[in-house]
Amino acid sequence: MSAAHEIEVLIRAKYPILYVVSWEERRLEDTLSTICRGLNRTLHTWSVTQGIRPPVVRSSGPLKPSSLSPELEALAQVHEAAEYTTFMLKDFHPYMKDYRVTRLLRDLAIRLRSRAQTLILTGPVLNLPPDLEKDITVIDFPLPGYPEIEVTLSKIIEAVRDNPNLDVTIDAATRERLVKSAQGLTQDEIESVFARSLVEKKKFDVTVILEEKKQIIRKSGLLEYYEPDARLNDVGGLDLLKEWLSKRTNSFTDKAQAFGLPAPKGILLLGVQGCGKSLCAKAVAAQWNLPLLRLDVGRIFGSLVGQSEENIRKAIRVAESVAPCVLWADELEKGFAGLGSVSDSGTTARVFSTFLTWMSEKTSPVFLIATANDVTTLPPEMLRKGRFDEIFFVDLPSQAEREQVFSIHLSKRKRDVAKFNLKALAKATDGFSGAEIEQVILGGLYVAFDAGRELLQKDIIAEAKATVPLSVMMSEEIDELRTWAEMRTRPASGRKHEKADEAE
Ligand SMILES: Nc1ncnc2c1ncn2[C@@H]1O[C@H](COP(=O)(O)OP(=O)(O)OP(=O)(O)O)[C@@H](O)[C@H]1O
Ligand SMILES: [Mg+2]
Repeated sequence: MSAAHEIEVLIRAKYPILYVVSWEERRLEDTLSTICRGLNRTLHTWSVTQGIRPPVVRSSGPLKPSSLSPELEALAQVHEAAEYTTFMLKDFHPYMKDYRVTRLLRDLAIRLRSRAQTLILTGPVLNLPPDLEKDITVIDFPLPGYPEIEVTLSKIIEAVRDNPNLDVTIDAATRERLVKSAQGLTQDEIESVFARSLVEKKKFDVTVILEEKKQIIRKSGLLEYYEPDARLNDVGGLDLLKEWLSKRTNSFTDKAQAFGLPAPKGILLLGVQGCGKSLCAKAVAAQWNLPLLRLDVGRIFGSLVGQSEENIRKAIRVAESVAPCVLWADELEKGFAGLGSVSDSGTTARVFSTFLTWMSEKTSPVFLIATANDVTTLPPEMLRKGRFDEIFFVDLPSQAEREQVFSIHLSKRKRDVAKFNLKALAKATDGFSGAEIEQVILGGLYVAFDAGRELLQKDIIAEAKATVPLSVMMSEEIDELRTWAEMRTRPASGRKHEKADEAE
């Protein structure tokens, strides 16, 4: 059900007060005005700067000037108004902290329930005082979807068709790419990016739109477009995880859907630092050929109370409008660390429950890939069946895996792998993470460069000897994590960690 349809149904069903969350006031007003026309109702809008428009007509004559503050006056007028009216109060959230406002809203909720009259509060953030939660129905007003963007595009083409300087003839495939590239933007932004492309390139250019979209998404501060710079082949070891991911390469295609496959929901990668969790997240997007959006979990918790909930909703909305895509929630535990602490008055819990609900109910093809290395702060609900498709445990690389990591990073630095004894290198780096192996190679390169010669096996070995890996310093923590993971997760690589190595 589209949001417009939902609002219409709620108005007809005499839901007294709705709260519609959206940044797009203009588009929302257009939508409400269409709905009201269809239902034969008068739409009155209110803002603190403009007051109520058109003014409310009363059978008992015009309202006397009152001494009430504007927001209370607005509510008083809603109370006075005739039936078959709908009120849109713009940016009303700041006033809801006032106890007189909340009381009046509750009174109105009772009064309007039996009348053909609806009060709609709108604003970019959701900020409901708990005492109003039962009286107000919250609706998300999503960004323009495919059909709406297509209409916008057609209108623009129509408007500039006669301009001889512009080339606006596009074939069906280009049309589809243009529309898809504009998903995730507001109506105003869509119009601007299309216009910008016409001004800059004299035609519709998908790259201009994508560039602009990256900027816009970045500005939102929560999601970032990430250019995946790795493929699954750049990940050493982790064979089971890679196999799981490769198997699902085409699972977001129409063909997979027709075959009856549900789109994968997501995975949680849990494990030791520096062993390739983030790397896998990046690689999978490239492998699947999907856009990668990184969610800044820490930033979700904005400093203003109430804003965090809106933040997570907004991030989800943007991700869904870009779908199919990979949503990467890196270091998940950082965001939810405050859960259960007394100081945050339940904000973290509400954000968290919004996120969980989305995870279990989402139908849009957004593949969530979350990473974490501390399980103790992750709430158990998160790990329950049905949230993630799988929880993988990423352990320190085994002997064979370290060989692979060496091989990958030596070739990355343009060195001839055949000149090195990978077995010996891997043996010298028992207990090292992938990140530490990379550092050891870099350290060796510095030494060789300084000595004015090519990198040698011994440089790397010397560097490894001089390094105390994290696994030594944190052996207790890692052991604990392993024990925990053994019962609850699936290993990312198919080998027993310790003993097999010794056998080499
Ligand atoms: N399995 C691996 N194969 C190849 N390179 C690796 C591997 N593991 C780590 N690296 C190298 O180390 C770097 C850091 O690893 P990455 O950021 O993926 O670790 P992480 O598991 O996300 O660690 P953290 O828990 O600290 O976030 C990678 O960019 C890569 O260069
Ligand atoms: Mg990481």
